[in-house]
Amino acid sequence: MLEALAVVAGKRFDVLDLGCGTGSLSERILRRFPQARSVLVDHDPVLLAIGRTGLGEQRGRLTWVDADLRRPDWFMSLPRRRFHVAVSTTALHWLTAPELARLYARVAHLLPHGGWFLDGDHIAFPADSSHFRQASRSVARHRAARIRLSDVGWDAWWRAVLRDPRLAAEAELHRIRYPHAHSETVSPDLEGHIRLLRRAGFCEVHLIWARWENRVLAAVR
Ligand SMILES: C[S@@+](CC[C@H](N)C(=O)[O-])C[C@H]1O[C@@H](n2cnc3c(N)ncnc32)[C@H](O)[C@@H]1O
Repeated sequence: MLEALAVVAGKRFDVLDLGCGTGSLSERILRRFPQARSVLVDHDPVLLAIGRTGLGEQRGRLTWVDADLRRPDWFMSLPRRRFHVAVSTTALHWLTAPELARLYARVAHLLPHGGWFLDGDHIAFPADSSHFRQASRSVARHRAARIRLSDVGWDAWWRAVLRDPRLAAEAELHRIRYPHAHSETVSPDLEGHIRLLRRAGFCEVHLIWARWENRVLAAVR
């Protein structure tokens, strides 16, 4: 995604980071592009608090926004209505097809003609490709087992963070906003995402990177 940004966004640009979590993607973007600025949107008070405390505002280059991307009016909280590019990583699978349709249309509206949207996410093979689905899930399981040997893992990390007394208020709100530890949403498959993006006003939509179901979709307004 950084490689793509270097080509399609240049050096000085405003980026919108959707479902930013603790800001790890925007942090990389700012490091790689010293003149870029990012507006980061998320709805998880815990992750936003960690991001705001850890990264801060980087002298005005990071602006954190608490908004629910499923709501039609989420964009009302943005500090500006024009971005050169939009990005997202492993976040939009939390949204249903109708919610994505609305979000994609809004993102298209926030970009200029020729502006790019890059989405790196888990995007499933179609339901009629059960062999690919099964193989992909097995690869993911094996990879997760290998990582767990040296890493704390998703569930253990969350248990530890939600017990941290410094985040007690945010943890309480997190439990209300995110009653499930993982997304329960049935997100569209690859073709579904492409169709929704095209309907939303993006004229070209293609995969630019893939490793099984981990993919980066790029769309041009
Ligand atoms: C796996 S994290 C990814 C975070 C970050 N993009 C990254 O790559 O590190 C998924 C993120 O999507 C956010 N998210 C899920 N549903 C959302 C919604 N309706 N509105 C805003 N953010 C949402 C979660 O709060 C979480 O921060």
